[in-house]
Amino acid sequence: MLEEIQEIFIQISKEPLDSLEKTEQFRLRYLGAKGILKDLYQQLKAVKPENKPAVGQALNTLRQEIESKVTAATSSLSAEAEVHQKHDYTRPTPSEGIGTLHPLRLVTQEIMAAFERIGFIFSEGPEIEDDWHNFSALNFPEDHPARDMQDTFFLAPPFAHFSLRTHTSSVQVRVMESETPPIRTISPGRVYRNEAISARAHCFFHQIEGLYIDKHVTMADLIQTLDYFAKTLFGGEVKIRLRPSYFPFTEPSAEVDVSCTLCQSKGCAVCKYTGWLEILGCGMVDPNVLIASGIDTEEYSGFAFGMGVERIAQLKFRVNDLRLYSENDLRFLQQFHL
Ligand code: DAH
Repeated sequence: MLEEIQEIFIQISKEPLDSLEKTEQFRLRYLGAKGILKDLYQQLKAVKPENKPAVGQALNTLRQEIESKVTAATSSLSAEAEVHQKHDYTRPTPSEGIGTLHPLRLVTQEIMAAFERIGFIFSEGPEIEDDWHNFSALNFPEDHPARDMQDTFFLAPPFAHFSLRTHTSSVQVRVMESETPPIRTISPGRVYRNEAISARAHCFFHQIEGLYIDKHVTMADLIQTLDYFAKTLFGGEVKIRLRPSYFPFTEPSAEVDVSCTLCQSKGCAVCKYTGWLEILGCGMVDPNVLIASGIDTEEYSGFAFGMGVERIAQLKFRVNDLRLYSENDLRFLQQFHL
């Protein structure tokens, strides 16, 4: 019987326990209720008394060997399975909860979509801008106050001829320089001004600029476009009105109001009891601006407009403190959906 046990030792050393399933089959085959060991222990009863201790000991050693083989294989195979699971990139991941879009992003997207629907094409320009694109090409006189350090952030020497753009009108110039008319473009972006931060002013904010250059473009086209825009954004019943204004880069220039949607123009705190809300500046592009960008003023004319995104967001969402937009407070940010 000792030989038989010896045989089994050799046999088990050759068994490849390379899966949990095989290990379990192995365990049942040797250690199960009807397993080989049970059988051997049964046979032990018939062994001559003088041989019993040796055979018994051999059997115990065999059992221990089998047990430890099973334990070792089980633990290494299940550890391996765990590692495998950790690296199974096809497993579905638990939902992390998706964030919300920033309110300024939501409003920008809505404004952009309104203009893209009527053929305006997205464009953008750099936030660090040279004097030409931010001021000179836009017909700002040399002594215009916006060129003052007090209003504009200039870079430190030797880059003092660059500043952080004070408006997105600089993108108009870049587009006119690189494209040939007809041009219909809409340019969103961040702008900077040297202002003390308060509820009503910030040193950076966002604007969206629009530019339309073609043959025979008139003030009527501008008004029609802005009327469409106001109705798309604030509802079909709103009216717009233009008030004469001044910008160096447009002539004539106007400021545009929409009728107050809060009080149906009856007068409330938001519209300061005027029934109107100012939303943007606009005008017919000054011929000097067209000439500066190499556009033939005999053939082409155009209109431009620019609006503050925070201002529109304030009207849509009733946020009255500008600082909230850049403080990253989740309690604020999670409230906005369009
Ligand atoms: N750039 C002006 C501002 O920052 C806004 C503006 C007004 C843009 C009239 C225009 C325009 O294109 O025609 O206040």
